[in-house]
Amino acid sequence: MAIKYTYVGHATHLLDVNGTKIVIDPFFGDNPSTDMSADAVEADYILLTHGHYDHVADAVAIAKRTGATVVSNFEISNWLGQQGVPEEQLHAQHIGGGFNHSFGYVKFTIAHHGSGLPDGSDGGNPAGLLITTDSKKLYFAGDTGLFYSMKLIGEEGLDFAVLPIGDNFTMGPDDALRAVKLLTPKVVVPSHYNTWPPIAQDAEAWKSRVEAETDTKVVVLKPGESLDV
Ligand code: NI
Ligand code: MN
Repeated sequence: MAIKYTYVGHATHLLDVNGTKIVIDPFFGDNPSTDMSADAVEADYILLTHGHYDHVADAVAIAKRTGATVVSNFEISNWLGQQGVPEEQLHAQHIGGGFNHSFGYVKFTIAHHGSGLPDGSDGGNPAGLLITTDSKKLYFAGDTGLFYSMKLIGEEGLDFAVLPIGDNFTMGPDDALRAVKLLTPKVVVPSHYNTWPPIAQDAEAWKSRVEAETDTKVVVLKPGESLDV
Protein backbone atom coordinates (compact mmCIF):
# COMPACT_ATOMS: atom_id res chain seq x y z
CA MET A 1 0.00 0.00 0.00
CA ALA A 2 3.00 2.28 0.54
CA ILE A 3 4.86 3.86 -2.35
CA LYS A 4 7.89 6.06 -1.80
CA TYR A 5 9.34 7.97 -4.75
CA THR A 6 12.88 9.43 -4.72
CA TYR A 7 14.22 11.85 -7.33
CA VAL A 8 17.88 10.92 -7.75
CA GLY A 9 18.46 13.74 -10.22
CA HIS A 10 18.30 14.28 -14.00
CA ALA A 11 16.02 11.42 -15.13
CA THR A 12 16.93 8.77 -12.58
CA HIS A 13 14.22 7.70 -10.15
CA LEU A 14 13.80 5.27 -7.28
CA LEU A 15 10.55 3.66 -6.22
CA ASP A 16 9.87 1.60 -3.15
CA VAL A 17 6.58 -0.19 -3.75
CA ASN A 18 5.55 -2.12 -0.64
CA GLY A 19 9.22 -2.90 0.01
CA THR A 20 10.16 -3.77 -3.58
CA LYS A 21 13.06 -1.57 -4.73
CA ILE A 22 12.86 -0.24 -8.28
CA VAL A 23 15.40 1.90 -10.14
CA ILE A 24 14.26 3.73 -13.26
CA ASP A 25 16.94 4.80 -15.79
CA PRO A 26 20.03 4.38 -13.60
CA PHE A 27 22.54 7.20 -14.21
CA PHE A 28 24.71 7.71 -11.13
CA GLY A 29 28.49 7.89 -11.63
CA ASP A 30 28.56 10.48 -14.43
CA ASN A 31 25.36 12.26 -13.35
CA PRO A 32 26.22 15.86 -12.35
CA SER A 33 23.01 16.06 -10.29
CA THR A 34 23.79 13.34 -7.74
CA ASP A 35 26.54 12.13 -5.44
CA MET A 36 24.74 8.83 -4.96
CA SER A 37 26.90 5.90 -6.00
CA ALA A 38 25.63 3.12 -8.23
CA ASP A 39 27.46 0.75 -5.86
CA ALA A 40 25.06 1.61 -3.03
CA VAL A 41 21.78 1.33 -4.94
CA GLU A 42 19.39 -1.39 -3.85
CA ALA A 43 17.41 -2.92 -6.68
CA ASP A 44 14.93 -5.72 -7.16
CA TYR A 45 13.96 -4.27 -10.54
CA ILE A 46 15.59 -1.92 -13.03
CA LEU A 47 13.22 -0.29 -15.53
CA LEU A 48 14.65 1.35 -18.66
CA THR A 49 12.78 3.80 -20.88
CA HIS A 50 15.34 3.99 -23.70
CA GLY A 51 18.94 3.35 -24.64
CA HIS A 52 20.61 6.75 -24.24
CA TYR A 53 23.64 6.91 -21.96
CA ASP A 54 22.00 9.21 -19.41
CA HIS A 55 19.36 6.47 -18.88
CA VAL A 56 21.29 3.17 -19.04
CA ALA A 57 24.76 4.22 -17.83
CA ASP A 58 24.86 2.08 -14.68
CA ALA A 59 22.22 -0.48 -15.60
CA VAL A 60 24.62 -3.32 -16.39
CA ALA A 61 26.71 -2.85 -13.23
CA ILE A 62 23.69 -2.62 -10.93
CA ALA A 63 22.03 -5.60 -12.60
CA LYS A 64 25.13 -7.77 -12.21
CA ARG A 65 25.71 -6.74 -8.58
CA THR A 66 22.12 -6.99 -7.35
CA GLY A 67 20.64 -9.70 -9.55
CA ALA A 68 17.73 -7.35 -10.27
CA THR A 69 15.26 -8.09 -13.03
CA VAL A 70 15.75 -5.61 -15.88
CA VAL A 71 12.60 -4.57 -17.71
CA SER A 72 13.26 -2.88 -21.04
CA ASN A 73 12.30 -3.04 -24.67
CA PHE A 74 13.37 -6.11 -26.66
CA GLU A 75 16.37 -4.51 -28.38
CA ILE A 76 17.84 -3.14 -25.14
CA SER A 77 17.17 -6.50 -23.49
CA ASN A 78 19.26 -8.24 -26.16
CA TRP A 79 22.04 -5.67 -25.68
CA LEU A 80 22.04 -6.20 -21.91
CA GLY A 81 22.45 -9.91 -22.56
CA GLN A 82 25.47 -9.16 -24.78
CA GLN A 83 26.93 -7.08 -21.91
CA GLY A 84 26.76 -10.15 -19.68
CA VAL A 85 23.54 -9.61 -17.77
CA PRO A 86 22.23 -13.16 -17.17
CA GLU A 87 19.30 -14.18 -19.33
CA GLU A 88 17.12 -15.02 -16.31
CA GLN A 89 17.32 -11.37 -15.20
CA LEU A 90 16.06 -9.99 -18.52
CA HIS A 91 12.41 -9.19 -19.15
CA ALA A 92 11.65 -7.72 -22.56
CA GLN A 93 8.44 -5.85 -23.31
CA HIS A 94 7.37 -3.42 -25.98
CA ILE A 95 5.10 -0.47 -26.59
CA GLY A 96 1.47 -1.19 -25.82
CA GLY A 97 2.40 -4.29 -23.88
CA GLY A 98 1.99 -4.71 -20.16
CA PHE A 99 3.06 -7.41 -17.74
CA ASN A 100 2.25 -8.20 -14.11
CA HIS A 101 5.55 -7.99 -12.27
CA SER A 102 5.67 -8.75 -8.53
CA PHE A 103 5.10 -5.07 -7.56
CA GLY A 104 2.55 -4.15 -10.21
CA TYR A 105 1.57 -4.03 -13.86
CA VAL A 106 4.03 -2.21 -16.11
CA LYS A 107 2.86 -1.05 -19.52
CA PHE A 108 5.19 0.46 -22.11
CA THR A 109 3.75 3.61 -23.68
CA ILE A 110 4.89 5.64 -26.66
CA ALA A 111 7.53 8.34 -26.43
CA HIS A 112 8.84 10.53 -29.23
CA HIS A 113 12.61 10.50 -28.92
CA GLY A 114 15.65 8.35 -29.87
CA SER A 115 16.98 5.21 -28.21
CA GLY A 116 20.47 4.51 -29.60
CA LEU A 117 22.68 2.67 -27.13
CA PRO A 118 26.05 4.09 -25.96
CA ASP A 119 28.08 1.80 -28.27
CA GLY A 120 25.93 2.64 -31.28
CA SER A 121 23.75 -0.49 -31.06
CA ASP A 122 20.10 -0.24 -32.00
CA GLY A 123 18.09 0.48 -28.86
CA GLY A 124 14.67 0.02 -30.48
CA ASN A 125 12.00 2.59 -29.78
CA PRO A 126 11.92 4.84 -26.72
CA ALA A 127 9.08 4.41 -24.27
CA GLY A 128 7.28 5.75 -21.27
CA LEU A 129 6.20 3.58 -18.34
CA LEU A 130 2.71 3.29 -16.90
CA ILE A 131 2.86 1.46 -13.58
CA THR A 132 -0.26 0.20 -11.82
CA THR A 133 0.27 -1.03 -8.26
CA ASP A 134 -2.33 -2.34 -5.81
CA SER A 135 -3.20 1.24 -4.89
CA LYS A 136 -1.88 3.78 -7.41
CA LYS A 137 -1.23 4.55 -11.05
CA LEU A 138 2.09 6.18 -11.90
CA TYR A 139 3.33 7.47 -15.26
CA PHE A 140 6.97 8.11 -16.16
CA ALA A 141 6.98 9.84 -19.54
CA GLY A 142 10.66 9.15 -20.20
CA ASP A 143 12.34 11.45 -22.70
CA THR A 144 9.69 12.67 -25.10
CA GLY A 145 8.12 15.56 -26.90
CA LEU A 146 4.47 16.41 -26.37
CA PHE A 147 1.99 14.06 -28.03
CA TYR A 148 -1.77 14.27 -28.08
CA SER A 149 -2.37 10.66 -27.06
CA MET A 150 -1.13 11.59 -23.60
CA LYS A 151 -4.87 12.15 -23.29
CA LEU A 152 -5.41 8.37 -23.55
CA ILE A 153 -2.85 7.78 -20.81
CA GLY A 154 -4.59 10.39 -18.68
CA GLU A 155 -7.90 8.59 -19.14
CA GLU A 156 -6.47 5.75 -17.05
CA GLY A 157 -6.56 8.08 -14.02
CA LEU A 158 -3.07 9.06 -12.88
CA ASP A 159 -2.16 9.53 -9.25
CA PHE A 160 1.38 10.56 -10.04
CA ALA A 161 3.42 11.57 -13.08
CA VAL A 162 7.03 12.46 -13.81
CA LEU A 163 7.53 14.67 -16.86
CA PRO A 164 10.62 16.15 -18.50
CA ILE A 165 10.66 19.96 -18.60
CA GLY A 166 14.24 20.64 -19.73
CA ASP A 167 13.57 21.60 -23.36
CA ASN A 168 16.22 21.03 -26.07
CA PHE A 169 16.17 17.18 -25.87
CA THR A 170 12.59 16.78 -24.57
CA MET A 171 9.49 18.81 -23.86
CA GLY A 172 10.19 22.21 -22.41
CA PRO A 173 8.07 24.01 -19.81
CA ASP A 174 5.39 25.20 -22.26
CA ASP A 175 4.73 21.76 -23.74
CA ALA A 176 5.06 20.08 -20.34
CA LEU A 177 2.24 22.34 -19.12
CA ARG A 178 0.14 21.20 -22.09
CA ALA A 179 1.07 17.61 -21.21
CA VAL A 180 -0.26 18.09 -17.68
CA LYS A 181 -3.56 19.28 -19.18
CA LEU A 182 -3.80 16.07 -21.25
CA LEU A 183 -2.64 13.71 -18.48
CA THR A 184 -4.45 15.36 -15.54
CA PRO A 185 -2.36 13.63 -12.85
CA LYS A 186 -3.06 14.42 -9.21
CA VAL A 187 0.64 15.13 -8.62
CA VAL A 188 3.46 15.83 -11.06
CA VAL A 189 7.22 15.98 -10.52
CA PRO A 190 9.42 17.75 -13.11
CA SER A 191 12.58 16.01 -14.29
CA HIS A 192 15.32 16.04 -16.98
CA TYR A 193 16.33 19.67 -16.30
CA ASN A 194 19.27 21.65 -14.82
CA THR A 195 21.71 18.79 -15.38
CA TRP A 196 23.59 20.69 -18.08
CA PRO A 197 23.31 24.28 -19.40
CA PRO A 198 21.13 23.49 -22.47
CA ILE A 199 18.37 22.14 -20.19
CA ALA A 200 18.49 24.79 -17.44
CA GLN A 201 14.93 25.61 -16.30
CA ASP A 202 13.13 27.36 -13.46
CA ALA A 203 11.04 24.57 -11.96
CA GLU A 204 9.40 26.85 -9.39
CA ALA A 205 8.16 29.13 -12.19
CA TRP A 206 6.76 26.07 -13.98
CA LYS A 207 5.03 24.97 -10.79
CA SER A 208 3.34 28.36 -10.50
CA ARG A 209 2.06 28.21 -14.06
CA VAL A 210 0.81 24.62 -13.79
CA GLU A 211 -0.94 25.21 -10.49
CA ALA A 212 -2.56 28.42 -11.82
CA GLU A 213 -3.94 26.68 -14.92
CA THR A 214 -4.71 23.12 -13.75
CA ASP A 215 -5.84 21.17 -10.66
CA THR A 216 -2.55 19.24 -10.59
CA LYS A 217 -0.19 19.70 -7.67
CA VAL A 218 3.46 20.19 -8.67
CA VAL A 219 6.13 18.91 -6.31
CA VAL A 220 9.60 20.20 -7.14
CA LEU A 221 12.16 17.87 -5.58
CA LYS A 222 15.85 18.53 -5.17
CA PRO A 223 18.07 15.59 -6.10
CA GLY A 224 17.86 13.04 -3.30
CA GLU A 225 14.49 14.18 -2.00
CA SER A 226 11.51 11.83 -1.66
CA LEU A 227 7.75 11.91 -1.41
CA ASP A 228 5.06 9.43 -0.46
CA VAL A 229 2.88 8.77 -3.52
NI1 NI B 1 17.27 10.43 -24.21
MN1 MN C 1 17.81 11.84 -21.49
